[in-house]
Amino acid sequence: MRHAITTSTVIAATISSAVAQACAAGAAKEIGGNWYCDAVKAITYSDFGSTGSYNKITNMDGGNCQSESFDYSGALAPMDGEVSWHFRGPLNLKQFAFYAPGSGLSKQDIQPESHERRQHGHAHFHKRNKEVGSIQEGYITEEKREVGALVIATIDGKVASWINQYDGEAQPTPAPDSSAAQPATEVDAKAATPTMNAGDGQWGRQAYYNAEQQMADGLTFLNNMGGQGSGIFDEVLGMSLSYAAADAKSGAASPQILANQMLGDGDEIVVMTDTPCKDGDCGVTRPGGVAYHGFNGAKKVFLLEFDMPISGATGWNKDMPAAWILNAQIPNTVQYGKPECSCWESGCGEWDIFEVLDSGNNRCKSTIHGNISGGDSNYFDRPVDSTVKVAVIFDGDNSAGHIVILPDEASFDQTLTDAQVAEYVNQDSSGVARSLFRLGS
Ligand SMILES: *[C@@H]1O[C@H](CO)[C@@H](O)[C@H](O)[C@H]1NC(C)=O
Repeated sequence: MRHAITTSTVIAATISSAVAQACAAGAAKEIGGNWYCDAVKAITYSDFGSTGSYNKITNMDGGNCQSESFDYSGALAPMDGEVSWHFRGPLNLKQFAFYAPGSGLSKQDIQPESHERRQHGHAHFHKRNKEVGSIQEGYITEEKREVGALVIATIDGKVASWINQYDGEAQPTPAPDSSAAQPATEVDAKAATPTMNAGDGQWGRQAYYNAEQQMADGLTFLNNMGGQGSGIFDEVLGMSLSYAAADAKSGAASPQILANQMLGDGDEIVVMTDTPCKDGDCGVTRPGGVAYHGFNGAKKVFLLEFDMPISGATGWNKDMPAAWILNAQIPNTVQYGKPECSCWESGCGEWDIFEVLDSGNNRCKSTIHGNISGGDSNYFDRPVDSTVKVAVIFDGDNSAGHIVILPDEASFDQTLTDAQVAEYVNQDSSGVARSLFRLGS
């Protein structure tokens, strides 16, 4: 997500009819240059993984960044590596959980009495769990904004983006991403989807945040406020990652538990594991910056509870809440800044989960940006009045990625079974509107 979204009416008019055909039912709606079909409760991306390469950063000294081509392949590649989570307000993050295969790694949660919580919560935050699954050769994720002006539009059910060349004189000449997926969007409440197995049938909760209980276990809250207590600021690369203050409005000197309050309009938070990068085990990271390992593996499950109230604010990134995932290499190098200083531009991976694309919109879209990019024309209703529980499932057995709105009673227990994960993926018995999007080429 780095969206300087500037779509001229010329472009919008061009794609209008194509999108109307791609919508399964009802008229396509155009809002701010983006197209919306139907509200759904689940989006499944098939052919999620691909084979390719991206530019892995090898040196950042002095802000002169170098990279080399890094080859990837696999059922979920390149998102099978470490990923980071990103949230932008207005948003209340109530719960966040990360599950990996194997109950043995599941952690005991300590819930101190409320009077102790404030006092000891911090130590708890530090001491808990060291190993978060297996850390493999690091990948990294990032994103940026306002590189020229990025234009994003959904054409025929696929998202295309290009750098806007339009200077106000010539006609804009969109060059849709030639690698983008073929349209294969359909709303289907019946299709059964295969699901993955953890191996021993159990998924252990490796990280958990509960806002009301002020419990943070196995994760770290960061933001791009380097120089404010932690991390670094310089004129070339800007602000590095930092520990986030509890209100996420500034940096902090040490890890803090995100407060149980709304992330402010436009404020952002990054969620990583609680394992710091060291001795180059995350690859090259921003010198002087705070750097943590992301959530690793081709099989991983995230459960989230959040809402996105309407703030009514206007302006850049205002009233545009979002929840998205990046290759963790991106924030660990440069999320917002010189494109050559992160792997984002070369397609190391971004998955937008719930993203409001223009101020005040009550529809959230999902998109994948990488070498292979695409996004569903259907959308999720923005959870403005009450929280929504969502599962994000990386299914390395079936090269699929799922975003599923869960029933309100879904719990964030210490373990999940394969059957529960399968149930999350296949909510068809309750008549949930599901959209399938074929991502691969
Ligand atoms: C992009 O994807 C295509 C199709 O899978 C592949 O042939 C190509 O090598 C990839 N390019 C990069 C730079 O990853």
